[in-house]
Amino acid sequence: MPIKVAIKLTVVFITMLVILTACGGKPASLPSPTSASPSPAAMRAKGEQIYQKTAAGIGCQSCHGVDGKGSNLGPTVRGATADGIKRALGSDVMRFISMSEEDIQDVAVYLKYLESQP
Ligand code: HEC
Repeated sequence: MPIKVAIKLTVVFITMLVILTACGGKPASLPSPTSASPSPAAMRAKGEQIYQKTAAGIGCQSCHGVDGKGSNLGPTVRGATADGIKRALGSDVMRFISMSEEDIQDVAVYLKYLESQP
């Protein structure tokens, strides 16, 4: 196509973009990323990270074992629920660990998964 036409088309296109942007033209059909709840797989992956590594900088596994079956330092936690974790976080031994509601949910998903493992 002739270069002048190409330039004109580009100008028209850019003008339309500017107008659309100025109108705050956000397509209503696109959900914002934060509104979607995370998938179970994503929750489990995050829960694993927290359980095995990051909780209070040492991970829950340091007392409850990498497989959640417990150790000399803590009982088995396989299949523990979010409520169970919250209760435990109030105990003297675990009081030093602080977790967000989201962290607790994620770890509960992971502990549920651990329960299904050999
Ligand atoms: C410093 C060691 C330690 C760490 C770290 C620790 N716990 Fe515990 N946890 C214990 C001990 C000891 C108990 C049992 C005594 C009690 O409940 O007071 C317990 C109890 C629990 C219970 C209740 C189990 C039951 O059947 O009564 C759950 C659930 C639990 N812990 C989850 C977790 C999770 C999740 C994490 C990581 C965020 C974690 N713990 C980190 C030591 C630890």
